[in-house]
Amino acid sequence: MEAGGAVPGDLERTFSQRYGSPPTHLARAPGRVNLIGEHIDFAGLPVFPMALQREVRIAFRPRDDGLVVAATTDPSYAPCHFEVGHQIEPYDGEDWGNYLKAAVQGMVFAYDLERGFDAVIDSTVPVAAGLSSSSALVIATALALAGSNELQPDPIELAELMAAAEQYVGTRGGGMDQAISAGAREGHAARVEFDPLRITPVPVPEDWRFVVAHTLVQAHKSGGAREGYNRRRGETEEARALMAGHLSLPASEVASYRDLLERVSGREALAGGEACLHGDLLKRFRHVVTEHERVTRAEVAMRSGSLAGFGMLMNGSHASLTEDYEVSIPELDELVGIARDAGAVGARLTGAGMGGCIVALCAIDDVDEVLQAIQDRFYVARDRIDDLDDHLFVAEPAPGASVEKM
Ligand code: GLA
Repeated sequence: MEAGGAVPGDLERTFSQRYGSPPTHLARAPGRVNLIGEHIDFAGLPVFPMALQREVRIAFRPRDDGLVVAATTDPSYAPCHFEVGHQIEPYDGEDWGNYLKAAVQGMVFAYDLERGFDAVIDSTVPVAAGLSSSSALVIATALALAGSNELQPDPIELAELMAAAEQYVGTRGGGMDQAISAGAREGHAARVEFDPLRITPVPVPEDWRFVVAHTLVQAHKSGGAREGYNRRRGETEEARALMAGHLSLPASEVASYRDLLERVSGREALAGGEACLHGDLLKRFRHVVTEHERVTRAEVAMRSGSLAGFGMLMNGSHASLTEDYEVSIPELDELVGIARDAGAVGARLTGAGMGGCIVALCAIDDVDEVLQAIQDRFYVARDRIDDLDDHLFVAEPAPGASVEKM
């Protein structure tokens, strides 16, 4: 996980001003856009994300003691410091420093590290936008701690550890975000499978463009969206347990949807669901089973260059997330509609939903039109044109996290 690239000038300057001498290392970890496979990673089913060129960067210098001292280039986040340890007390409320603590505690648990570091952090990943700014921060922090202790963790091991570690903030997330941030390959999306974690890169066709657009509605993983996320996950798990009973299988043999779908086909599962589930539980179940099918077909579509096929599956995913998983909001639906009207072959909410971003797929020749339409009909209409680059951009498939010694 070594990579080239100097510490950006402003980050280096801020570090030197703050700590009196320059940083010795740079850790970086990308955000991600999930192309398809939403709210099924925690069910043990494969997902299909891509790392973004937007990333968290940490300029750091190992310390001689066990303190982690961190500040950011954004003055709205207060600096923090804490001791490296096995049981780190969380900050109260929704403090950003809890993501640092999550990473450090997780790394210490696995590797028994003792040395802390001084750090300055900056990020180009929009916060609470469903683009995994928090997992990028967790992965970059873990690499800073590893680098400070002369450890080079394997990306898969790092991703698995940090998926568990991030539960420290209280969201019962799956492992997608940490996996793609740690293990992406440039120019590629990836099929990510779980238990054990596997990442299979899939080249993104050169004439495909994925456009990302933010609703301007934030969905904080450590805030209100956490409750909505955890509740749906609970319902999804309850539906699986009821299905196991319906099929007269011991719950221990159907510990995940993957177990279930290894025993019965998607079609049989759906028929069983219709027979034994009702209301929200039936809807959550139907989303998981149909989304799994869409992920499998989407990978085939990308490998065979079927733009229209991939787009159609994205549209199906959005419908299912809206009607069955119920995590869309009017702004997400509006952006999806604008993108499709302007020539995108498919568009869907990405990430956990309840705010955040959409991702739209179009041919390279149509990308300017799609960007223009979203700009005019969504951002100009809301008078939010000044910071447009933060909200509307073309995703470039980026490499996974790295740490470099200066
Ligand atoms: C969040 C979680 C992920 C995943 C998505 C929804 O990003 O961290 O593990 O569940 O939501 O697909």
